[in-house]
Amino acid sequence: MNVLVTGAAGYIGSHTCRLLVQSGCRVIGYDNLSQGHCAAFERATNGGRLVVGDLADTDLLQRTLTAEAVEAVVHFAALALVGESIEYPQRYHQNNVEGSASLIQALHHCGIKRLVVSSTTAIYGAPEIIPISEETPPAPINPYGQSKWDVECLLQEACQRDGLGFAALRYFNAAGAASDGLLGEDHSPETHLIPIVLQVALGQRDRIQIFGDDYPTPDGTCVRDYVHVNDLADAHLKALNLLQPGQKIQVNLGSGTGTSVLEIVEHARRVTGHEIPCAVASRRPGDPPCLIADNALARSMLKWKPQHSSLDSILTSAWRWHQRHPQGYPSSE
Ligand code: UFG
Repeated sequence: MNVLVTGAAGYIGSHTCRLLVQSGCRVIGYDNLSQGHCAAFERATNGGRLVVGDLADTDLLQRTLTAEAVEAVVHFAALALVGESIEYPQRYHQNNVEGSASLIQALHHCGIKRLVVSSTTAIYGAPEIIPISEETPPAPINPYGQSKWDVECLLQEACQRDGLGFAALRYFNAAGAASDGLLGEDHSPETHLIPIVLQVALGQRDRIQIFGDDYPTPDGTCVRDYVHVNDLADAHLKALNLLQPGQKIQVNLGSGTGTSVLEIVEHARRVTGHEIPCAVASRRPGDPPCLIADNALARSMLKWKPQHSSLDSILTSAWRWHQRHPQGYPSSE
């Protein structure tokens, strides 16, 4: 199958490209390289074809889809930081919502009816009932979550109007790295908890700031559901194989287990053997106290089962990546 992957040079995109190639797909990457790394895509696909372009460029998308005889699309390209979205909401609408609208238009033009899309638990806001099932009404509390819910609404419309089949995969907290240390997380600036904790262990930062210890959670720090990036990649492959034109899939992808910020720090101390000093700071705007997935639907519908999402597997693989790539991907590669 010929599959176009937007955001193919990014964190989850590159891990998914690697699995798609391993499963026999021909992958064509599409990325504007604003966040992604050429090296990530090259390593994932052994030098596959990468089109450098923007989602807003509907014409380039259409030409690429046609020239490469694309049969299905996996769409990762998006801005995905809660804090940044509060500062620059318009940027999130433009990039995520208008960018996806451009892609949907290109798919319609080319008659492509299968699209797997990154969505997020941030669409649920701060729900009271935990674990979070897909029945939870969307109620985003930050512009990032809102932008992703807006994208799902566009997809629902295109499904009804044009028979587009789509799978919106609602990730909880993506984490971990490839087991061989070749691919991993490299954001600039880095804002995610696990990479920052490991940068402290590497001596690149003095300490980790814990954003709030007065949340209504067992130890007062925020609880998240960390899911290994390779488990997410596997879900994309399964969704792609299952998806039919006109079908609508909206499904949570999380491990089903909650881990607090303090538990992450403590576990990282064991895995790295480093002290990892921390200091309590004020709450970060837009952070819900607790997000844990009910993943029953993914298990039954996609026949998906998280295989690598234990804290040990996540932190060991991420630590391997950070030790081998203390400065991230080489820019010359
Ligand atoms: N945190 C700290 N200190 C830090 C960084 C993070 O205490 O230096 C805390 C945050 O406050 C939060 C938790 O660690 O409670 C996790 O924060 P991340 O920034 O790693 O991840 P988020 O939960 O904010 O967001 C991530 C993705 C989003 C996605 C969301 C789903 O970035 O795209 O998970 O839960 F929507």
